[in-house]
Amino acid sequence: MKSFGWKRKVCFEIDQKGHNVWGNWFAILNKGTFCEGDAIPYVPVSTVEKEDVKKALQKCFDYFSLTGKRATDFIDWIGYAIGIAWCSEKPNITEKVELFLEEHFPWEGLIQHPADYMSTFLVLNGSSGNLEYYPTPMTITTAISRMLNISVEPNLTDSVLEPCLGPGAMLLPVKALNLVGMDLSLLMVKAACIQAFFYKPSLLFVPTPIVGIHAHPVEKRIHQYFEVKTDSRIYWGNSLFGEFQAPKNIFIQDSEFEDVYVNPYQESLREIHQYRDWLKEEWSSIDVERRKILVGVMAREHKFTVVMSNPPFGKMNALDIEKMKTIEKENIQFYESLQAPIDVIEDIPSIGQLQLF
Ligand SMILES: C[S@@+](CC[C@H](N)C(=O)[O-])C[C@H]1O[C@@H](n2cnc3c(N)ncnc32)[C@H](O)[C@@H]1O
Repeated sequence: MKSFGWKRKVCFEIDQKGHNVWGNWFAILNKGTFCEGDAIPYVPVSTVEKEDVKKALQKCFDYFSLTGKRATDFIDWIGYAIGIAWCSEKPNITEKVELFLEEHFPWEGLIQHPADYMSTFLVLNGSSGNLEYYPTPMTITTAISRMLNISVEPNLTDSVLEPCLGPGAMLLPVKALNLVGMDLSLLMVKAACIQAFFYKPSLLFVPTPIVGIHAHPVEKRIHQYFEVKTDSRIYWGNSLFGEFQAPKNIFIQDSEFEDVYVNPYQESLREIHQYRDWLKEEWSSIDVERRKILVGVMAREHKFTVVMSNPPFGKMNALDIEKMKTIEKENIQFYESLQAPIDVIEDIPSIGQLQLF
């Protein structure tokens, strides 16, 4: 049996010979800066899948499923092969199946002919309707991203949020480099990570803020959403409440997981409240260690430039409605305990007013 991430290097090599999205992204990460003229880690994703790649994927799954395995196990197998933390557990498959997959799995086709293969695969193999999952066709998501001006000649630093990501159909056509997505289904999170690994490195792996994308190119301040607790931007959890989890290190097996909050409904979950006193101090009098903490908590307070989604929130379940009501009561108590009206909280200086170092 192969080890975690056994196919990652080969995938990078296939990418390097073709679209080189990882090569371009690593070049930016290594510089820590994105400048005009840099090669963009972007590949156009087709609205139709290449037929022989789709067939090869299905053939592999059909063989895989003869041993009683399901689509979710297959996604785990792919995730383990490329080595993403969500799929850290060694797949329990026979040597015969392993050999079949090794011979027939279409790694090259998937990487060289970008399309939304995972959405089609999951729909064809039983995931349609789970948690209201219905994929949006790529013709539609491509048109939407054009209308929002985030796919053809976008401002590459625009931040784009997809709160009901599925396998990523909405974000696949987006050219902007500052992307975040989340889903309530762990299966969808894994499928989105796999497609991000193939086509969207700036969604899967962002270990540090990049000047020119997340930090202001001249003033070097974080001026766009950034989460310092994880090096990935695909989160698992409930977008109605803004409560998620993410691995600290997406490429490390059995990585620790962190709680991540994005616009949490429960106000007390916004870590920034713990630092209200520090924020009243003169910035120049705050030492570097405390500045780093403040920059981290402020960085996740930024609003997104664009939110694009196909959410299933028409039918909220009774438990969610109940939880919302409870949180609303807790929020009132929380504000009272702070002895601060809401507008005072909104008055906290923006990250744009804080120097990074
Ligand atoms: C209609 S599908 C859209 C999927 C994808 N965005 C697309 O356009 O193809 C809705 C997605 O929302 C997810 N979902 C449902 N309830 C959610 C919630 N409360 N928070 C986050 N994601 C949720 C489902 O798992 C599903 O993947």
